[in-house]
Amino acid sequence: MINLIWAMDKNQLVGKGDRIPWHIKEDLLYYKAKTKGKTVIMGDTTYFSLKGYYKDKPLPYGKIYVATIDKGLIIDDKLNDVVMIYDINSFLASYTDELWVCGGATIYKLALPYADYLYISYVKGEYEGDRYFPQIDFSKYELIWENDTDQVRYTTFKRVR
Ligand SMILES: NC(=O)c1ccc[n+]([C@@H]2O[C@H](COP(=O)([O-])OP(=O)(O)OC[C@H]3O[C@@H](n4cnc5c(N)ncnc54)[C@H](OP(=O)(O)O)[C@@H]3O)[C@@H](O)[C@H]2O)c1
Repeated sequence: MINLIWAMDKNQLVGKGDRIPWHIKEDLLYYKAKTKGKTVIMGDTTYFSLKGYYKDKPLPYGKIYVATIDKGLIIDDKLNDVVMIYDINSFLASYTDELWVCGGATIYKLALPYADYLYISYVKGEYEGDRYFPQIDFSKYELIWENDTDQVRYTTFKRVR
């Protein structure tokens, strides 16, 4: 079961450089509650950005798959169980356990065809940045849950075809 989880603004913006363009605490708490202790996959840009925030503390996940096409990149992480993935397509095509795809933009685009569930936080408003989520074919998905707050509309979509 492959879950994509992300936050985006009304223009499908997800990032600015290696950062998230907004700071919305309730969304961070939501994201953390969903992904805590879980097996995740993320691109190397997102991984190194998170390491910058957490510094000498472990990232709050279970196993972390880090995707890159740089076969020379080997991450020696003493705090987390990190496994390198050099071909995300073949990895996702044969993956059967629960997996949370945590970004960034490149990895979301590559993983979208494999997604069983989409956990989308629609951040209200418009922000500046340069990384966008790709177009989503919502005819393949059904909305199964939503919760609206002042800052964010939280949704879950399930693949139906
Ligand atoms: N809003 C959200 O919910 C959210 C969540 C997470 C991240 N973000 C944002 O997303 C942005 C980062 O996104 P990004 O696109 O720059 O980086 P990224 O998705 O974190 O990482 C991209 C990496 O994927 C690798 N890659 C490309 N094709 C691949 C393949 N076929 N197999 C394996 N790996 C492959 C690339 O490797 P090479 O470097 O070798 O080309 C690249 O390093 C940041 O701004 C971050 O804040 C937003």
